[in-house]
Amino acid sequence: MSKFWTQSSLGCVRTYYLRPALNFGPSATPLVCLVFSLTSPLYLQILNMLQSSLTKSLRLYSTKAARNRQALERIIRVDHAGELGADRIYAGQMAVLGPVIQHMWDQEKEHKAKFEELIPKYRVRPTVLIPIWNVAGFALGAGTALLGKEAAMACTVAVESVITDHYNSQLRELIHNGEEEHKELIEVIKKFRDDEMDHHDTGLAHDAELAPAYKTMSNVIKMGCKAAVWISERI
Ligand SMILES: [Fe+2]
Ligand SMILES: [Fe+2]
Repeated sequence: MSKFWTQSSLGCVRTYYLRPALNFGPSATPLVCLVFSLTSPLYLQILNMLQSSLTKSLRLYSTKAARNRQALERIIRVDHAGELGADRIYAGQMAVLGPVIQHMWDQEKEHKAKFEELIPKYRVRPTVLIPIWNVAGFALGAGTALLGKEAAMACTVAVESVITDHYNSQLRELIHNGEEEHKELIEVIKKFRDDEMDHHDTGLAHDAELAPAYKTMSNVIKMGCKAAVWISERI
């Protein structure tokens, strides 16, 4: 015990009282110091609880942030690939269908341009399969167009139906992950989803269902589109 102060402890709080000898004059108020004892078990327990709670929160936050980032990359990568494929399909059909699809093709070009802007903006790696979707998209468009106008429209209806569902599912995921955080992407996808629905309806209005083996062709094209989406999301 020092000759200059006395002390008392309560839990993790230790109080020091200066001895009267250090008071200056009869009216001086005794000085009281409250300090936390760094070795008090209660103090250490509180510190451990705070540390553990902070660590848990940080871990949860980083896991959620990582999942959000992965979802964002997957969405932009596959949509960029899809819009590139759509552009190529319409390019392949252009020779047969002409002006009927010009407006839809122009919209696909806008969609592709938007995702080409978003890829570097969000620092997302494009799919490595771009050269394949380039060729496959054109072949699908030209191949169905060679079967006639109805078959080309049946291709449009099948593709746009898959893409509309795909965009709706992405919208649900982005809203779930943080509507405010993903505001820009949500607005882009909503607009494109509406355009794709119009393309789907235009295809139906131009006798898509009169195409030879409509059901079979539609199912095969839908399966191909879903496979392309699945692969493009991953590589
Ligand atoms: Fe599109
Ligand atoms: Fe479209």
